[in-house]
Amino acid sequence: MTDSAGPPGRPPSVGARITLDIERAAHGGHCVGRHDGRVVFVRHALPGERVEAVVTGHGAKARFLRADAVTVLVASPDRVDAPCSHAGAGGCGGCDWQHASRGAQLAIKGEILREQLHRLGGLDEVEGVALAESVSVEAVPGDVDGLGWRTRVRYAVTAEGRPGFRRHRSHGTEAVERCPLVTDAVDAVGATRLTWPGAEEVEVVASSGGDRAVQVEPTTASRTTGLDRDVAVRGLRGRTWVRELAGGREWRVQSSGFWQVHPGAPDALVAAVREALDPQPGEHLLDLYSGVGLFAGCLAADLGSESRIDAVEFSVDACKDARRNLHDLPQVRIHQGDVEAWLGSGAVDTVDLVVLDPPRSGAGAAVLDHVLDLAPRAIAYVACDPAALGRDVRFLHGAGWRVASVRGFDLFPMTQHLEAVALLLPAG
Ligand SMILES: C[S@@+](CC[C@H](N)C(=O)[O-])C[C@H]1O[C@@H](n2cnc3c(N)ncnc32)[C@H](O)[C@@H]1O
Repeated sequence: MTDSAGPPGRPPSVGARITLDIERAAHGGHCVGRHDGRVVFVRHALPGERVEAVVTGHGAKARFLRADAVTVLVASPDRVDAPCSHAGAGGCGGCDWQHASRGAQLAIKGEILREQLHRLGGLDEVEGVALAESVSVEAVPGDVDGLGWRTRVRYAVTAEGRPGFRRHRSHGTEAVERCPLVTDAVDAVGATRLTWPGAEEVEVVASSGGDRAVQVEPTTASRTTGLDRDVAVRGLRGRTWVRELAGGREWRVQSSGFWQVHPGAPDALVAAVREALDPQPGEHLLDLYSGVGLFAGCLAADLGSESRIDAVEFSVDACKDARRNLHDLPQVRIHQGDVEAWLGSGAVDTVDLVVLDPPRSGAGAAVLDHVLDLAPRAIAYVACDPAALGRDVRFLHGAGWRVASVRGFDLFPMTQHLEAVALLLPAG
């Protein structure tokens, strides 16, 4: 390795150019290289490459560096031309892996999922099969090139009122007129071809049920001119909710509320949870972090009318939507509140099955402790952060539970994000 940035041992300053051999991909949308014994987290590179990189920052006490690859000296066979001109060093921070082939993106995400399960979860294998053979990340059915999947997108807005995306680790915004990740329906709303003076964010939704909505922060910067008449504008006109389709049902979801962004995601996750839990008629299911009721509503068909399903969700609006979405399923009870507090209240003594779909921070020890007290026969853990899944798996393992399967899903192609569904069973 060469260094034009100063004597060995002292960290090169921000802006210095260094040459790096790239070792592997890491959680966070970057790769790992080394410079004078220091770890360097390098964006826009791929494992096996040699790159020239510009130092963009230092970690605490300069124990590690951040850098952007700017010239590829030895390219990986997995490298492709990024489909978007805004991707790359200094550009839009929304995507991390546009320069990797789709196959390589899935392989990288699989590696990261396995690494987090091993390092944070303490897992070496799943049911006697090494992680390398038992855990991988799959594309969503129907996804071909990883483009055109975003049904919900939140744009940052430049000082001139133009929508775009934040640059990586920056408050600066790159104006982007056509993001290749959004669906044609989101693009057709036309929000990026308008200016939004005074706005900080503009969120656009084009739902699978055919509804279109725009939400602006602050709402005083909203406008209707230039938008088609059917586009709802929160605070100015139209409904506050959109219709989504999944599991053969229609779902009402607040346009600002939680719903999976990839149109293939809800069905893929429901199928994985169903396969993992194998719900039987009459069983009692707990759907924790239930949103507008996706898992409760879809698994109700398997569990039947003699079953009981308790769904627990914090958001008042999501609970209202869930009650409406599931009004035809008398076996479902929706509980509005904090999951930990609800479990701690002793509302249920035992359950058969649990779906856990927590936010990025994970469920955590206190919630898991309560869940284990209910002695379920199986837990399906739906995770949007593999690190949180790893930490919670370690806790469950320590409490005598075992991981029986893990499936990863690329619900966010081109980006660093991945989703996983893990089945946990009592050991023995
Ligand atoms: C990843 S979303 C899952 C939603 C739903 N399962 C779905 O698939 O559409 C996580 C949900 O947990 C809710 N949530 C976050 N923290 C919570 C808490 N402490 N107690 C209850 N719900 C919470 C959020 O409002 C959000 O709806």
